This record gives sequence, structure tokens and C-alpha cells, in this order.
Amino acid sequence: MKADLLFRGISQLVTPVGPGPKHGAQMRELNIVEPAALAVTDGKVLWSGSEADWAGQATTTLDVGHRAVVPGLVDPHTHAVWAGDRLADFDARISGVPYEKILAAGGGIWSTIRATAAASPDELLALAKPRIEALLRSGASVIEVKSGYGFTSDAEIRMLEVTRQLSDATPARIVPTLLIHVPPREAADRAKYVSDACQTLIPAVAQQKLAHAVDVFVEKEAWSAAEAEAIFSSARQHGLAIKLHTEQFNRVGGLELGLRLGALSVDHLEACAPEQVALLANSNTVATILPGVSLHLGLSPAPGRALIDAGAAVAVGTDLNPGSSPLFSTAETLALSIRLNGLTAQEALVAGTVNAAAALGLSDAGRIEPGLPADFLILGSADWRDLVYTLGANPVREVWIRGQRVTV
Ligand code: NIG
Ligand code: FE
Repeated sequence: MKADLLFRGISQLVTPVGPGPKHGAQMRELNIVEPAALAVTDGKVLWSGSEADWAGQATTTLDVGHRAVVPGLVDPHTHAVWAGDRLADFDARISGVPYEKILAAGGGIWSTIRATAAASPDELLALAKPRIEALLRSGASVIEVKSGYGFTSDAEIRMLEVTRQLSDATPARIVPTLLIHVPPREAADRAKYVSDACQTLIPAVAQQKLAHAVDVFVEKEAWSAAEAEAIFSSARQHGLAIKLHTEQFNRVGGLELGLRLGALSVDHLEACAPEQVALLANSNTVATILPGVSLHLGLSPAPGRALIDAGAAVAVGTDLNPGSSPLFSTAETLALSIRLNGLTAQEALVAGTVNAAAALGLSDAGRIEPGLPADFLILGSADWRDLVYTLGANPVREVWIRGQRVTV
């Protein structure tokens, strides 16, 4: 066996085995080899195993210095493209005004829509790039990015075009999603907005391959389940996958709709009831929890522990956005899922790798296995659990994507 690169001196090489979604107790199954070596050729993993078992040759050998190696993380839920800030909302919320009230009064998401409309594509790109770099440094090699601060069809397309440029400007794999975020404030305008989304926006996005999926925010202050169903039927007709922001504050039928339509994921779930936990556990839809939102908005955390105990497949994402989750670290998000949602360290790693990949419909990310892209992290520590233990400092020393060291 002949490798371009051989990494030796790996204290622990830790990976989920096989693609997600991993359900329930499967989320605690990791393959841990110690000490290990990892061989890379043509940007892909050629071999991994016990250091003593490597019998091939390598053009270059790198000693990792007794540090742990884990797969590149997958961040399955971000809104990384926006302009403006939400500091006034933050002040208002600190003095007791609820997030939903700010939104209903035309602030919140609406203020970000206004600021995003006022920015040029170049400005949006320049604002988004360092956010992606922060996620990348924190270990994310695959990052989903949603539109949704455009509102008009043209502005949504513009956001997705910026996301495409962003994807060319970063070594991370960017997975774009069209988000149908908030309805027009006049009730009379909603039906027209839905029909424009179905007849113009979604077909254009699909035709230009600007997104892999359509996401809808189903909530009292946003879309109803019936409106979302119409939007999803267009998404399906145009070959796009579906996902939902749902059960964030209220239960208005989003979760049940998502399961009925075979959504890739239902995201948020802070308001998920015990009977809904059982429904999710009996489905193939990934339950994506977003601990940054619980922390920043002071919501009770999504029932991560109960979901896994019932047998659901749980993923974790930053939900990086200016209003509900200004959280710029994917690794720290896993750490928060342990503290806030009751996951174990093993479950958090699976939630942030193969299960997050499954939430994006990907089966070739989030694990270290021959033939897959060589996306992995060298941690600062010999024990991989430091990845999900550390708060406030970066436990990731080096990020490697497709066999290349990332320097951002
Ligand atoms: O994931 N729930 C709605 N959408 C985003 C928040 C967007 C914002 O507040 O700007 C979320 O929480
Ligand atoms: Fe979100």
C-alpha cells in the first residue's frame, strides 16, 4: 500500500462506523483505536488502524505527537449569511420582551431581512466568510447554510448565489438550503407568497441547483402546517429534499407534517411533547437539536436525552444566526448538547458527525473510513473527549479537509 501521507503518533483514532442516521443506543457506538495511524491518498482515506499494523509506504510521514483524531464535524443548520446585528433585540430580550413578540412587532428576523436587503452581494460575502472560517476552525468540515433573510424571491436567490460564492471561497463543503422563513405581515398576502414560492422561486432554485433542500419555519408567528405542505409539494416536484424549523415555541403540526412527508430532519424541538418523542423515534427523520438557541433565548432545551432513549436519531447544529443563536463554534455546540440536552460524549460526537450528515442527506461525511474524503481533526489533547468537554477555548488543533491542512 502506498500513501501520499501517513499520520502516526495518534493517541486515539475515534470514528462512528458506517453511515447515519444512528438511532438510540447506536449513537454510543464508536470505533476507538489506540495508538493509531491514518494513511491518506488523493484526498481520501486509504487506510486507518492500529499503528503497529501499518505495513505500507508513505511519501510523507507526519507525527501527530500523541494527540487524538476524530472525523471532521458536520454542522447541519446555520444561517451564516446575514447583514446588520440584533443587539437592540438582545437588550430588549434582556429586559424581558420575548423573541416572538419582537418578531410579531416587525423586529427580530424582519430587522435582519431589512439589513440584508441593504447589503450588496460582495458585502454579504465579506460578512459571511469569517463566520464560516470560525465554524471551520472549530472543526466543521461540512456546513449547511440557509437563505431566509431575503424574503422576496429575488433576494432569496441572491442569498443563495452568495452562498455559492462562499462555497468557492472556503475549503469546507457548503450545503445550501432554501429557507421559506417568515410570511408577509398582511394575512391577505400569504396565499400569493406561497404560490410565488411554489411556482417561481422553488423551480428557479432547483433549475440553477442553488439548494439541496427546502426548509420551512412552521410556527404560530410564521407558517402553518397547511402552508408548509403546499411549499413542500413544490419542493418534492422539483427534486428537493425537505426540512423544517418546528416545535420551537408552539406545536402547530409541523413535526407531524415533517414525519408524514419523510423530511430529512425536523429542527429545534424545544417544545416537543413526550408523545412526539415516540413518533420521532419510530421514523427515519433526524431530530436536529440546537442548544445555542436554548442558551441564548432561555428556552427549555429540546429533549435530547428522551429522544435518544426512545430510539430517535439526534443531530446537533449551531443554528448560527444573529437572533437566536450567535454561536460560532461547532465543537462547543456539541459540548453544550451534553450540558443542556443530556447527551453523552459519545452521543454528541455521533450527533455532530454521521447523524448531522444524514440530516443533510449525506452518507460520505462524518466518519474516517477508507474511500471517504480525508476530513479529520487533530485535537490538542490525547483524549478525544476534550472535544466535547472544553468550553470557551478551541479543542481543535488542526483541521484537515480532503487530505489538506486548512489554515484559516
Ligand atoms: O433557527 N426560528 C427561526 N429562525 C431562526 C432564527 C432566525 C433569527 O432569529 O434571525 C432559528 O432560530
Ligand atoms: Fe435556524
